[in-house]
Amino acid sequence: MSNPYNAMDNKKEINIGVLGLGVVGSGTVRTLIENADIIANRLGVRLNVSKVAVRDPSKKRDISLPAGVLTSRPEDVLDNPSIDIVCELIGGVEPARSLVERAIHAGKNVVTANKEMMAKAGGDLMRLAEEKNLDFLFEGSVGGGIPVIQPLKQALAANRFEEVMGIVNGTTNYILTKMATEGAEFADVLREAQERGYAEPNPTNDVEGYDAQYKIAILASIVFNSRIDINDIFVQGITRLSRRDFEMADILGYVIKLVGIGQDSGNGLRVRVHPALLRKDHPLASVNDVYNAIYVRANPVGTVMFYGRGAGPGPTGSAVVGDIMEIARNMRRGATGRLGCTCFAQRNILPMASLQTRYFVRLTAEDRPRVLASVASVFGDFDVSIESVEQRAREEGKAEIVLLTHRTVEHNLASALDVLSRLPIVARIDNWLRVEE
Ligand code: NDP
Ligand code: HSE
Repeated sequence: MSNPYNAMDNKKEINIGVLGLGVVGSGTVRTLIENADIIANRLGVRLNVSKVAVRDPSKKRDISLPAGVLTSRPEDVLDNPSIDIVCELIGGVEPARSLVERAIHAGKNVVTANKEMMAKAGGDLMRLAEEKNLDFLFEGSVGGGIPVIQPLKQALAANRFEEVMGIVNGTTNYILTKMATEGAEFADVLREAQERGYAEPNPTNDVEGYDAQYKIAILASIVFNSRIDINDIFVQGITRLSRRDFEMADILGYVIKLVGIGQDSGNGLRVRVHPALLRKDHPLASVNDVYNAIYVRANPVGTVMFYGRGAGPGPTGSAVVGDIMEIARNMRRGATGRLGCTCFAQRNILPMASLQTRYFVRLTAEDRPRVLASVASVFGDFDVSIESVEQRAREEGKAEIVLLTHRTVEHNLASALDVLSRLPIVARIDNWLRVEE
Protein backbone atom coordinates (compact mmCIF):
# COMPACT_ATOMS: atom_id res chain seq x y z
CA MET A 1 0.00 0.00 0.00
CA SER A 2 1.41 3.43 -0.87
CA ASN A 3 2.17 5.71 2.03
CA PRO A 4 -0.08 8.79 2.07
CA TYR A 5 2.65 10.90 3.70
CA ASN A 6 5.39 10.52 1.11
CA ALA A 7 4.80 14.03 -0.10
CA MET A 8 5.22 15.60 3.37
CA ASP A 9 8.73 16.96 3.04
CA ASN A 10 7.67 20.50 2.28
CA LYS A 11 4.73 20.62 4.62
CA LYS A 12 5.43 23.23 7.26
CA GLU A 13 2.73 22.35 9.78
CA ILE A 14 1.22 19.14 11.10
CA ASN A 15 -2.24 19.40 12.61
CA ILE A 16 -3.01 17.60 15.82
CA GLY A 17 -6.50 16.70 17.03
CA VAL A 18 -7.00 15.92 20.70
CA LEU A 19 -9.82 13.91 22.29
CA GLY A 20 -10.00 14.83 26.00
CA LEU A 21 -8.63 17.85 27.87
CA GLY A 22 -8.43 16.52 31.42
CA VAL A 23 -5.24 15.84 33.39
CA VAL A 24 -3.31 14.31 30.47
CA GLY A 25 -5.02 16.26 27.66
CA SER A 26 -4.22 19.59 29.29
CA GLY A 27 -0.60 18.49 30.00
CA THR A 28 -0.27 17.48 26.35
CA VAL A 29 -1.75 20.67 24.90
CA ARG A 30 0.23 22.84 27.31
CA THR A 31 3.49 21.12 26.26
CA LEU A 32 2.63 21.54 22.58
CA ILE A 33 1.92 25.25 23.10
CA GLU A 34 4.63 26.19 25.61
CA ASN A 35 7.42 24.20 23.93
CA ALA A 36 6.24 24.89 20.37
CA ASP A 37 9.46 26.54 19.24
CA ILE A 38 11.90 23.93 20.50
CA ILE A 39 9.63 21.18 19.16
CA ALA A 40 9.50 22.87 15.74
CA ASN A 41 13.26 23.35 15.71
CA ARG A 42 13.83 19.70 16.54
CA LEU A 43 11.34 18.46 13.96
CA GLY A 44 11.72 21.00 11.18
CA VAL A 45 7.95 21.35 11.17
CA ARG A 46 5.40 23.03 13.46
CA LEU A 47 2.82 21.07 15.41
CA ASN A 48 -0.51 22.86 15.53
CA VAL A 49 -3.28 21.95 17.99
CA SER A 50 -6.18 22.42 15.62
CA LYS A 51 -9.15 20.81 17.42
CA VAL A 52 -9.77 19.57 20.97
CA ALA A 53 -12.93 17.58 21.73
CA VAL A 54 -14.26 17.42 25.29
CA ARG A 55 -17.49 16.30 26.92
CA ASP A 56 -18.43 19.74 28.23
CA PRO A 57 -16.89 22.76 26.42
CA SER A 58 -18.46 25.16 28.94
CA LYS A 59 -16.38 23.73 31.80
CA LYS A 60 -13.91 26.18 33.36
CA ARG A 61 -10.33 25.13 32.42
CA ASP A 62 -6.92 26.40 33.39
CA ILE A 63 -5.71 26.33 29.81
CA SER A 64 -6.88 28.80 27.19
CA LEU A 65 -7.24 27.84 23.54
CA PRO A 66 -7.86 30.02 20.47
CA ALA A 67 -11.55 30.46 19.57
CA GLY A 68 -12.99 27.58 17.59
CA VAL A 69 -10.50 24.97 18.81
CA LEU A 70 -12.67 23.50 21.58
CA THR A 71 -15.61 21.34 20.50
CA SER A 72 -18.00 18.83 22.03
CA ARG A 73 -18.07 16.79 18.81
CA PRO A 74 -15.30 14.14 18.40
CA GLU A 75 -16.24 14.03 14.71
CA ASP A 76 -14.84 17.57 14.34
CA VAL A 77 -11.48 15.88 14.98
CA LEU A 78 -12.08 12.57 13.22
CA ASP A 79 -13.71 13.96 10.05
CA ASN A 80 -11.28 16.86 9.68
CA PRO A 81 -9.10 16.03 6.66
CA SER A 82 -6.36 18.47 7.74
CA ILE A 83 -5.72 16.58 10.99
CA ASP A 84 -2.91 14.02 10.67
CA ILE A 85 -2.47 12.86 14.27
CA VAL A 86 -5.22 12.13 16.81
CA CYS A 87 -4.48 11.90 20.54
CA GLU A 88 -7.01 9.84 22.47
CA LEU A 89 -6.87 11.10 26.06
CA ILE A 90 -10.40 10.31 27.24
CA GLY A 91 -9.77 7.03 29.08
CA GLY A 92 -11.79 3.82 29.52
CA VAL A 93 -12.66 1.41 26.74
CA GLU A 94 -15.72 3.03 25.21
CA PRO A 95 -16.15 5.40 23.48
CA ALA A 96 -12.33 5.64 23.30
CA ARG A 97 -11.87 2.42 21.33
CA SER A 98 -14.55 3.25 18.73
CA LEU A 99 -13.14 6.75 18.30
CA VAL A 100 -9.62 5.36 17.79
CA GLU A 101 -10.92 2.86 15.22
CA ARG A 102 -12.69 5.67 13.38
CA ALA A 103 -9.52 7.77 13.44
CA ILE A 104 -7.46 4.91 11.96
CA HIS A 105 -10.11 4.19 9.30
CA ALA A 106 -9.94 7.91 8.44
CA GLY A 107 -6.17 7.52 7.83
CA LYS A 108 -4.97 9.27 10.98
CA ASN A 109 -2.04 8.27 13.15
CA VAL A 110 -2.96 7.81 16.80
CA VAL A 111 -1.35 8.45 20.17
CA THR A 112 -2.97 7.28 23.40
CA ALA A 113 -2.16 7.09 27.12
CA ASN A 114 -5.08 4.75 27.74
CA LYS A 115 -3.76 1.64 29.52
CA GLU A 116 -7.18 0.04 29.96
CA MET A 117 -7.94 0.26 26.24
CA MET A 118 -4.44 -0.94 25.35
CA ALA A 119 -4.60 -3.89 27.76
CA LYS A 120 -8.04 -4.94 26.53
CA ALA A 121 -7.95 -4.08 22.84
CA GLY A 122 -4.42 -2.94 22.00
CA GLY A 123 -3.60 -5.90 19.75
CA ASP A 124 -6.59 -5.35 17.45
CA LEU A 125 -6.02 -1.60 17.29
CA MET A 126 -2.30 -1.97 16.53
CA ARG A 127 -3.01 -4.47 13.75
CA LEU A 128 -5.62 -2.14 12.25
CA ALA A 129 -3.12 0.72 12.24
CA GLU A 130 -0.45 -1.55 10.75
CA GLU A 131 -2.75 -2.59 7.88
CA LYS A 132 -3.03 1.07 6.98
CA ASN A 133 0.67 1.89 7.43
CA LEU A 134 -0.17 4.23 10.28
CA ASP A 135 1.57 4.83 13.59
CA PHE A 136 -0.21 3.97 16.81
CA LEU A 137 1.91 4.85 19.85
CA PHE A 138 1.14 4.56 23.58
CA GLU A 139 4.21 5.53 25.62
CA GLY A 140 2.12 7.41 28.22
CA SER A 141 0.03 4.35 29.05
CA VAL A 142 2.70 2.85 31.35
CA GLY A 143 4.88 4.82 33.74
CA GLY A 144 3.56 8.29 32.75
CA GLY A 145 6.67 10.28 31.83
CA ILE A 146 9.08 7.36 32.02
CA PRO A 147 10.25 6.24 28.58
CA VAL A 148 9.80 2.47 28.75
CA ILE A 149 7.66 1.19 25.88
CA GLN A 150 9.82 2.52 23.05
CA PRO A 151 13.07 1.44 24.80
CA LEU A 152 11.70 -2.09 25.31
CA LYS A 153 10.53 -2.29 21.69
CA GLN A 154 13.59 -0.67 20.15
CA ALA A 155 16.80 -0.10 22.12
CA LEU A 156 16.46 -3.43 23.98
CA ALA A 157 14.97 -5.40 21.07
CA ALA A 158 18.04 -7.64 20.78
CA ASN A 159 17.46 -9.15 24.22
CA ARG A 160 15.75 -12.25 25.56
CA PHE A 161 13.69 -10.96 28.46
CA GLU A 162 13.58 -13.06 31.61
CA GLU A 163 11.64 -10.73 33.88
CA VAL A 164 9.88 -7.39 33.98
CA MET A 165 8.92 -6.08 37.38
CA GLY A 166 7.52 -2.68 38.17
CA ILE A 167 6.08 -0.29 40.66
CA VAL A 168 3.63 1.09 38.13
CA ASN A 169 0.97 2.79 40.23
CA GLY A 170 1.79 6.10 41.89
CA THR A 171 -1.28 6.29 44.12
CA THR A 172 -0.60 2.97 45.83
CA ASN A 173 3.13 3.66 46.08
CA TYR A 174 2.33 6.94 47.84
CA ILE A 175 0.02 5.12 50.27
CA LEU A 176 2.51 2.31 50.96
CA THR A 177 5.35 4.79 51.47
CA LYS A 178 3.26 6.68 54.06
CA MET A 179 2.25 3.46 55.81
CA ALA A 180 5.91 2.46 56.02
CA THR A 181 7.37 5.79 57.10
CA GLU A 182 4.59 7.11 59.34
CA GLY A 183 3.31 3.86 60.78
CA ALA A 184 -0.17 4.75 59.57
CA GLU A 185 -3.06 2.44 58.70
CA PHE A 186 -4.29 2.02 55.11
CA ALA A 187 -7.71 3.67 55.55
CA ASP A 188 -6.21 6.78 57.19
CA VAL A 189 -3.57 7.28 54.51
CA LEU A 190 -6.10 6.73 51.73
CA ARG A 191 -8.40 9.39 53.22
CA GLU A 192 -5.52 11.87 53.48
CA ALA A 193 -4.37 11.09 49.92
CA GLN A 194 -7.90 11.74 48.64
CA GLU A 195 -8.11 15.03 50.56
CA ARG A 196 -4.81 16.15 49.01
CA GLY A 197 -5.91 15.09 45.52
CA TYR A 198 -3.31 12.30 45.20
CA ALA A 199 -5.93 9.55 45.12
CA GLU A 200 -9.11 9.50 43.04
CA PRO A 201 -12.48 9.92 44.83
CA ASN A 202 -13.14 6.35 43.62
CA PRO A 203 -9.78 4.69 44.29
CA THR A 204 -10.83 1.11 43.42
CA ASN A 205 -8.79 0.82 40.20
CA ASP A 206 -5.62 1.85 41.99
CA VAL A 207 -5.93 0.20 45.43
CA GLU A 208 -7.34 -3.09 44.12
CA GLY A 209 -4.47 -3.35 41.62
CA TYR A 210 -6.45 -3.11 38.35
CA ASP A 211 -4.48 -0.12 37.07
CA ALA A 212 -1.25 -2.07 37.66
CA GLN A 213 -2.86 -5.12 36.01
CA TYR A 214 -3.41 -3.16 32.77
CA LYS A 215 0.14 -1.84 32.87
CA ILE A 216 1.85 -5.19 33.49
CA ALA A 217 -0.32 -6.71 30.73
CA ILE A 218 1.12 -4.11 28.33
CA LEU A 219 4.72 -4.55 29.51
CA ALA A 220 4.62 -8.36 29.56
CA SER A 221 3.00 -8.46 26.10
CA ILE A 222 5.90 -6.41 24.76
CA VAL A 223 8.81 -8.23 26.39
CA PHE A 224 7.44 -11.74 25.79
CA ASN A 225 5.99 -10.94 22.32
CA SER A 226 2.73 -12.56 23.35
CA ARG A 227 -0.60 -10.85 24.06
CA ILE A 228 -1.50 -11.26 27.70
CA ASP A 229 -5.20 -11.61 28.44
CA ILE A 230 -5.83 -9.52 31.57
CA ASN A 231 -8.14 -12.26 32.86
CA ASP A 232 -5.08 -14.53 33.14
CA ILE A 233 -3.30 -12.09 35.46
CA PHE A 234 -3.52 -12.73 39.19
CA VAL A 235 -4.39 -9.45 40.96
CA GLN A 236 -4.32 -8.62 44.64
CA GLY A 237 -4.49 -5.01 45.84
CA ILE A 238 -3.20 -3.29 48.97
CA THR A 239 -6.37 -2.97 51.04
CA ARG A 240 -5.56 -5.83 53.43
CA LEU A 241 -2.13 -4.53 54.42
CA SER A 242 -1.79 -3.26 57.97
CA ARG A 243 0.72 -1.11 59.80
CA ARG A 244 1.97 -4.24 61.59
CA ASP A 245 2.91 -5.92 58.28
CA PHE A 246 5.21 -2.97 57.57
CA GLU A 247 6.71 -2.99 61.08
CA MET A 248 7.56 -6.68 60.89
CA ALA A 249 8.80 -6.47 57.30
CA ASP A 250 11.10 -3.65 58.40
CA ILE A 251 12.46 -5.65 61.35
CA LEU A 252 13.21 -8.53 58.97
CA GLY A 253 15.01 -6.23 56.51
CA TYR A 254 12.27 -5.75 53.90
CA VAL A 255 9.92 -3.14 52.46
CA ILE A 256 6.43 -3.83 51.09
CA LYS A 257 5.58 -2.65 47.56
CA LEU A 258 2.75 -3.28 45.12
CA VAL A 259 4.51 -4.89 42.18
CA GLY A 260 3.48 -5.99 38.72
CA ILE A 261 5.59 -8.94 37.62
CA GLY A 262 6.04 -10.81 34.35
CA GLN A 263 8.44 -13.76 34.33
CA ASP A 264 9.42 -16.28 31.71
CA SER A 265 9.58 -19.67 33.43
CA GLY A 266 10.57 -21.52 30.29
CA ASN A 267 7.43 -23.67 30.20
CA GLY A 268 5.14 -20.63 30.45
CA LEU A 269 4.77 -17.09 31.72
CA ARG A 270 3.92 -15.89 35.19
CA VAL A 271 2.13 -12.54 35.19
CA ARG A 272 0.81 -11.15 38.47
CA VAL A 273 0.11 -8.07 40.57
CA HIS A 274 0.28 -8.14 44.36
CA PRO A 275 1.98 -6.58 47.36
CA ALA A 276 5.37 -8.18 47.95
CA LEU A 277 8.23 -8.00 50.40
CA LEU A 278 11.42 -6.75 48.73
CA ARG A 279 14.76 -6.75 50.49
CA LYS A 280 15.83 -3.22 51.37
CA ASP A 281 18.70 -3.45 48.87
CA HIS A 282 16.41 -4.45 45.97
CA PRO A 283 16.55 -1.79 43.21
CA LEU A 284 12.78 -1.19 43.54
CA ALA A 285 12.82 -0.90 47.36
CA SER A 286 13.88 2.74 47.35
CA VAL A 287 11.23 3.85 44.83
CA ASN A 288 8.95 5.91 47.05
CA ASP A 289 5.99 8.31 47.05
CA VAL A 290 4.30 8.75 43.67
CA TYR A 291 7.37 7.61 41.75
CA ASN A 292 7.25 4.59 39.46
CA ALA A 293 10.04 2.31 38.27
CA ILE A 294 10.26 -0.62 35.89
CA TYR A 295 13.07 -3.11 36.30
CA VAL A 296 13.92 -5.63 33.58
CA ARG A 297 16.27 -8.59 33.51
CA ALA A 298 17.32 -9.65 30.04
CA ASN A 299 20.08 -11.32 28.11
CA PRO A 300 22.59 -9.97 27.13
CA VAL A 301 21.94 -6.53 28.67
CA GLY A 302 21.62 -7.74 32.28
CA THR A 303 19.43 -5.55 34.45
CA VAL A 304 18.02 -2.16 33.49
CA MET A 305 15.79 0.11 35.55
CA PHE A 306 13.57 2.95 34.32
CA TYR A 307 12.56 5.47 36.98
CA GLY A 308 10.50 8.65 37.15
CA ARG A 309 7.11 10.22 37.65
CA GLY A 310 4.40 7.81 36.60
CA ALA A 311 1.43 10.16 36.41
CA GLY A 312 0.28 13.76 36.21
CA PRO A 313 -0.11 16.30 33.41
CA GLY A 314 3.58 17.21 32.95
CA PRO A 315 5.09 13.70 32.89
CA THR A 316 2.31 12.12 30.83
CA GLY A 317 2.09 15.14 28.52
CA SER A 318 5.83 14.73 27.93
CA ALA A 319 5.33 11.10 26.86
CA VAL A 320 2.35 11.87 24.63
CA VAL A 321 4.14 14.74 22.87
CA GLY A 322 7.24 12.55 22.46
CA ASP A 323 5.02 10.06 20.59
CA ILE A 324 3.50 12.84 18.48
CA MET A 325 7.00 14.00 17.51
CA GLU A 326 8.04 10.45 16.60
CA ILE A 327 5.03 10.23 14.29
CA ALA A 328 5.79 13.65 12.79
CA ARG A 329 9.32 12.47 11.95
CA ASN A 330 7.97 9.28 10.40
CA MET A 331 5.42 11.26 8.40
CA ARG A 332 8.12 13.51 7.01
CA ARG A 333 10.09 10.46 5.84
CA GLY A 334 7.06 8.52 4.62
CA ALA A 335 7.79 5.87 7.25
CA THR A 336 4.69 5.64 9.42
CA GLY A 337 3.60 2.14 10.42
CA ARG A 338 7.26 1.15 10.85
CA LEU A 339 6.82 -0.30 14.34
CA GLY A 340 3.50 -1.96 15.01
CA CYS A 341 2.39 -4.81 17.23
CA THR A 342 5.38 -6.89 18.35
CA CYS A 343 3.36 -9.94 19.52
CA PHE A 344 4.12 -12.90 17.26
CA ALA A 345 4.09 -15.70 19.86
CA GLN A 346 1.38 -17.32 21.93
CA ARG A 347 2.69 -18.14 25.40
CA ASN A 348 0.63 -19.84 28.10
CA ILE A 349 0.18 -18.32 31.56
CA LEU A 350 1.01 -20.58 34.49
CA PRO A 351 -1.40 -20.81 37.45
CA MET A 352 -0.56 -19.11 40.75
CA ALA A 353 -0.89 -22.41 42.63
CA SER A 354 2.36 -23.60 41.02
CA LEU A 355 4.31 -20.41 41.80
CA GLN A 356 7.47 -21.03 43.79
CA THR A 357 8.73 -18.23 45.96
CA ARG A 358 9.39 -17.38 49.60
CA TYR A 359 6.57 -16.28 51.89
CA PHE A 360 6.02 -14.01 54.90
CA VAL A 361 3.34 -15.25 57.28
CA ARG A 362 1.97 -13.41 60.31
CA LEU A 363 -0.43 -15.25 62.60
CA THR A 364 -1.75 -15.01 66.14
CA ALA A 365 -1.88 -18.14 68.34
CA GLU A 366 -2.24 -19.23 71.95
CA ASP A 367 0.81 -18.26 74.01
CA ARG A 368 1.55 -21.61 75.70
CA PRO A 369 3.94 -24.56 75.43
CA ARG A 370 4.02 -26.66 72.24
CA VAL A 371 2.05 -24.12 70.17
CA LEU A 372 5.04 -23.02 68.10
CA ALA A 373 6.00 -26.67 67.56
CA SER A 374 2.44 -27.49 66.42
CA VAL A 375 2.44 -24.59 63.96
CA ALA A 376 5.84 -25.64 62.60
CA SER A 377 4.65 -29.21 62.28
CA VAL A 378 1.69 -28.20 60.05
CA PHE A 379 4.06 -26.35 57.73
CA GLY A 380 6.27 -29.46 57.72
CA ASP A 381 3.30 -31.64 56.77
CA PHE A 382 2.94 -29.60 53.58
CA ASP A 383 6.65 -29.56 52.78
CA VAL A 384 6.95 -25.88 53.67
CA SER A 385 10.39 -25.24 55.13
CA ILE A 386 10.71 -22.36 57.62
CA GLU A 387 13.66 -20.02 57.22
CA SER A 388 13.17 -17.82 60.31
CA VAL A 389 10.62 -17.25 63.09
CA GLU A 390 9.92 -14.28 65.33
CA GLN A 391 7.54 -14.63 68.24
CA ARG A 392 6.19 -11.81 70.43
CA ALA A 393 3.48 -11.60 73.07
CA ARG A 394 1.20 -8.78 71.94
CA GLU A 395 -2.24 -9.61 73.30
CA GLU A 396 -3.19 -11.12 76.66
CA GLY A 397 -2.51 -14.87 76.40
CA LYS A 398 -1.67 -14.68 72.70
CA ALA A 399 1.56 -14.70 70.73
CA GLU A 400 2.22 -13.18 67.34
CA ILE A 401 4.26 -15.56 65.19
CA VAL A 402 5.94 -14.06 62.15
CA LEU A 403 7.84 -16.37 59.87
CA LEU A 404 9.64 -16.40 56.56
CA THR A 405 9.60 -19.61 54.57
CA HIS A 406 12.22 -20.97 52.23
CA ARG A 407 11.21 -21.17 48.59
CA THR A 408 8.08 -23.27 48.38
CA VAL A 409 5.10 -24.02 46.15
CA GLU A 410 2.19 -21.59 46.67
CA HIS A 411 -0.37 -24.40 46.71
CA ASN A 412 1.49 -26.06 49.63
CA LEU A 413 1.69 -22.81 51.58
CA ALA A 414 -2.03 -22.11 51.04
CA SER A 415 -2.93 -25.65 52.15
CA ALA A 416 -0.85 -25.32 55.32
CA LEU A 417 -2.48 -21.98 56.14
CA ASP A 418 -5.92 -23.49 55.56
CA VAL A 419 -5.22 -26.24 58.08
CA LEU A 420 -3.68 -23.78 60.56
CA SER A 421 -6.66 -21.42 60.34
CA ARG A 422 -8.89 -24.26 61.58
CA LEU A 423 -6.70 -25.27 64.56
CA PRO A 424 -8.13 -24.21 67.96
CA ILE A 425 -4.68 -22.95 69.04
CA VAL A 426 -4.57 -20.47 66.13
CA ALA A 427 -6.63 -17.33 66.76
CA ARG A 428 -6.20 -15.99 63.23
CA ILE A 429 -3.90 -15.80 60.19
CA ASP A 430 -3.25 -12.06 60.22
CA ASN A 431 -1.69 -11.88 56.75
CA TRP A 432 0.63 -13.65 54.37
CA LEU A 433 2.62 -12.11 51.55
CA ARG A 434 4.97 -13.20 48.80
CA VAL A 435 8.67 -12.35 49.09
CA GLU A 436 10.35 -11.47 45.80
CA GLU A 437 14.07 -11.96 45.22
P1 NDP B 1 -9.63 13.00 32.90
O1 NDP B 1 -10.85 12.43 33.50
O2 NDP B 1 -8.89 14.04 33.68
O3 NDP B 1 -10.00 13.64 31.49
C1 NDP B 1 -10.82 13.01 30.56
C2 NDP B 1 -11.16 13.99 29.46
O4 NDP B 1 -11.92 13.32 28.47
C3 NDP B 1 -11.97 15.19 29.91
O5 NDP B 1 -11.46 16.35 29.31
C4 NDP B 1 -13.38 14.90 29.37
O6 NDP B 1 -14.11 16.05 29.03
C5 NDP B 1 -13.05 14.13 28.13
N1 NDP B 1 -14.12 13.27 27.66
C6 NDP B 1 -14.80 12.33 28.36
N2 NDP B 1 -15.69 11.71 27.56
C7 NDP B 1 -15.56 12.27 26.33
C8 NDP B 1 -16.18 12.07 25.08
N3 NDP B 1 -17.13 11.16 24.93
N4 NDP B 1 -15.78 12.81 24.02
C9 NDP B 1 -14.80 13.74 24.17
N5 NDP B 1 -14.17 13.99 25.33
C10 NDP B 1 -14.55 13.25 26.40
O7 NDP B 1 -8.67 11.78 32.53
P2 NDP B 1 -7.08 11.75 32.55
O8 NDP B 1 -6.54 12.88 31.77
O9 NDP B 1 -6.60 11.55 33.94
O10 NDP B 1 -6.79 10.37 31.80
C11 NDP B 1 -6.87 10.26 30.39
C12 NDP B 1 -6.21 8.96 29.98
O11 NDP B 1 -4.83 8.98 30.32
C13 NDP B 1 -6.78 7.72 30.67
O12 NDP B 1 -6.74 6.65 29.78
C14 NDP B 1 -5.80 7.48 31.82
O13 NDP B 1 -5.76 6.13 32.22
C15 NDP B 1 -4.50 7.87 31.16
N6 NDP B 1 -3.44 8.28 32.07
C16 NDP B 1 -3.70 9.17 33.06
C17 NDP B 1 -2.69 9.63 33.87
C18 NDP B 1 -2.92 10.64 34.92
O14 NDP B 1 -1.96 11.05 35.58
N7 NDP B 1 -4.14 11.11 35.13
C19 NDP B 1 -1.30 9.13 33.69
C20 NDP B 1 -1.14 8.19 32.60
C21 NDP B 1 -2.19 7.80 31.83
P3 NDP B 1 -14.54 17.17 30.11
O15 NDP B 1 -13.25 17.85 30.48
O16 NDP B 1 -15.45 18.07 29.40
O17 NDP B 1 -15.15 16.42 31.25
N1 HSE C 1 -3.89 6.25 38.84
C1 HSE C 1 -2.62 6.07 38.22
C2 HSE C 1 -1.53 6.06 39.28
C3 HSE C 1 -2.41 7.18 37.21
O1 HSE C 1 -1.81 6.36 40.44
O2 HSE C 1 -0.41 5.72 38.97
C4 HSE C 1 -1.35 6.90 36.21
O3 HSE C 1 -1.65 5.87 35.35
